Amino acid sequence: MEQYIIKGGRPLNGEVTISGYKNAALGIIAAAIMTDETVKIENVPNVKDIEVLLRAIEDIGAKVERSKNSVKINASKINSVSVDFDYIRKIRASYYLLGALLGKYKSAQVALPGGCNIGSRPIDQHIKGFEALGCEVKIEHGLICAQTVNLAGAHIYFDGSSVGATINTMLAASMADGMTILENAAKEPHVVDVANFLNSMGANIKGAGTDVIRIKGVKKLHGSEYSIIPDQIEAGTFMFAAAASKGNVLIKNVIPKHLEAFTAKLMEIGAEVEEFDDAVRVKASGRLGNTHVKTLVYPGFLTDMQPQMATLLSVSKGTSIVTESIFENRFKYVDELSRMGASIKVESNTAIIDGVERLTGAVVSAPDLRAGAALVIAGLMAEGFTIVENVEYIERGYENFEYKMQQLGAAMEKIDSEDSKAVRKFKLKVS
Ligand code: EPZ
Repeated sequence: MEQYIIKGGRPLNGEVTISGYKNAALGIIAAAIMTDETVKIENVPNVKDIEVLLRAIEDIGAKVERSKNSVKINASKINSVSVDFDYIRKIRASYYLLGALLGKYKSAQVALPGGCNIGSRPIDQHIKGFEALGCEVKIEHGLICAQTVNLAGAHIYFDGSSVGATINTMLAASMADGMTILENAAKEPHVVDVANFLNSMGANIKGAGTDVIRIKGVKKLHGSEYSIIPDQIEAGTFMFAAAASKGNVLIKNVIPKHLEAFTAKLMEIGAEVEEFDDAVRVKASGRLGNTHVKTLVYPGFLTDMQPQMATLLSVSKGTSIVTESIFENRFKYVDELSRMGASIKVESNTAIIDGVERLTGAVVSAPDLRAGAALVIAGLMAEGFTIVENVEYIERGYENFEYKMQQLGAAMEKIDSEDSKAVRKFKLKVS
């Protein structure tokens, strides 16, 4: 098993370039199979979840050619609408294949999605969307099976804002007969990116980015070339890592508008953030202050940045309160942070954080993707050595994470837990 070893106490300095948005890429790759023509997608991050989705579409007959961060997909020879492999169950976004296959072939069977264990993750709103479009949806033998003779546009009011249900229904509806109106739709940047990509393939989608999306179904989609937006969560993670390490980092290839909720909180607690056209600089020195944060749907504070924020606040002055309102099980990293000396009490969906002067290095285990990144930030701040286990979670969503950190001056390496000399070698190297 691989793990990160980190020696804390070094400020991050320099520049880091942000990769394409994993969560947008997942929707876009699924959408790419909806045409028989070739699609070229640029700025695709090399992360595990993307690898898994690409393997899944290859397995049902799509031709996939990858080179660095670009991928060409031709789905003219799809030979099955059934996606059920061991690995596909591990990623949440496998469900986008349902919407895409339904749109194109009016039939799909996909293994029920897994993904990070951050709380119960129902799919009732996805099913509601497909049923409204005229599909029969059943769950059988661990598969979601949906089919219809004809997809018909519909007026759908989602019970809650869901990124996944909005994207999935949009995928299917873009090839339905007539007009679909999605109300109470999710407004997240990746919903907009998937809609823009579908439009570049000839779909007719208006209003993405607002809570009402209008989709006029088209008979056919065509080939396209498209570049994925930068990853707001990776950008936010580096912003918080820069502030946590008391560094000075220029974070490049970002859309500053997507980062405003993080920028506002960083400035509120005393960090400096400077915005440029497609970059932000984050600087901090001295101990930061406390605040209250509540996770909300976009443009509110993103749940995927909650662990990184709480970690930063664990060493800030005073008492901070972090409320998680999207996923109920997203405080699993708190026990690990406590082992590093943090003082955090979780009551229901709220963490009460009494800022301590310092954290101390320990062996900790990443419970999920974003919490794993937060523990790396904790390691950068802590006195001494931290080992973060289960890095495979982190690799699901961060491209070249340790390399990017090293380029900024972090003393951090990925080592094999079986290699008994690796820790000693690292300690000698960085001392
Ligand atoms: C997406 O998950 C992201 N994943 C998550 O990022 C992110 O945390 C989440 O949106 C919220 O922003 C991808 O884009 C692949 P939702 P998703 O449907 O689509 C409830 C990461 O670390 N809900 O917007 O699964 C649900 O329980 C990952 O990159 C229903 O009740 O999230 C939650 O409380 C982790 N019924 C809320 O809605 C449904 O049918 C929002 O979930 C669907 C969702």
